Amino acid sequence: MKQPDRCSTGIKALNEMLLGGLPRGRTILVEGLPGTGKTILSLHFLIAGILENPKDPEPAILVCLDESPSDVMKEASAFGWNLQRLMDLKQLVIIDAFSGRLGLKPSLELAVPIGKFSIEEVLRLISESMQVINAQRLVIDPITALLDGMEGTERRKGVLQLAAVLTRLSLTTILTSELDQAGVGVERYASHGVIRLGYDEKNKTVGRRLRIVKMRETMHSMDVIPYEITIRGIELKA
Ligand SMILES: Nc1ncnc2c1ncn2[C@@H]1O[C@H](COP(=O)(O)OP(=O)(O)O)[C@@H](O)[C@H]1O
Ligand SMILES: [Mg+2]
Repeated sequence: MKQPDRCSTGIKALNEMLLGGLPRGRTILVEGLPGTGKTILSLHFLIAGILENPKDPEPAILVCLDESPSDVMKEASAFGWNLQRLMDLKQLVIIDAFSGRLGLKPSLELAVPIGKFSIEEVLRLISESMQVINAQRLVIDPITALLDGMEGTERRKGVLQLAAVLTRLSLTTILTSELDQAGVGVERYASHGVIRLGYDEKNKTVGRRLRIVKMRETMHSMDVIPYEITIRGIELKA
């Protein structure tokens, strides 16, 4: 059942660790090295909002910054998630903030045009999409690409500007963050919660590990939980 103050992540064991899910209307950072499953976790979250409550769905916006929307749609289809269908139903909007940055012609209607990339432009597209589908959930994947080239005070200002807008829009948001890039600290402080995905290379095989680093308003475990990525997506071994 839908809880008024929590948003299902789509991953049952993670919801249990979070007293039902992510705090509604807040911004959560999902950080990790490349390939740890940040995009897949984000897709679980977006899809859960739509499909777990068919009578009262929570429409969602996905901003793609480091992968083309078509690549993300292809990755999703491997887990049985048909993003195109959700877009056709006006439950999901994907914003192409990838192509224009590379000087490529964007593939989607909602896109950052070539040469127009800025935080303001991305925020403008988010606000526009919100009005179209009455969005309640948002993923920016990854926030590190949105802050590319910004350092020190400018970066801090960028993050705070973003956080202020997201709070005003009262969307439940996942920002993903590539851990191997410098300057991740500011995003962490501006977020209501942080979930870290990582590798454990102690043995001959490399394992995957999840940890809730912080989650305000939530009495959560500090355990390091192993997980796998299977055809069903992320599966915690809690
Ligand atoms: N269809 C699949 N089945 C099993 N594992 C997959 C599948 N697709 C991707 N993966 C795993 O997920 C990883 C990519 O996850 P992703 O969420 O894109 O990572 P990130 O966004 O953190 O870079 C791949 O490196 C691979 O290990
Ligand atoms: Mg990714």
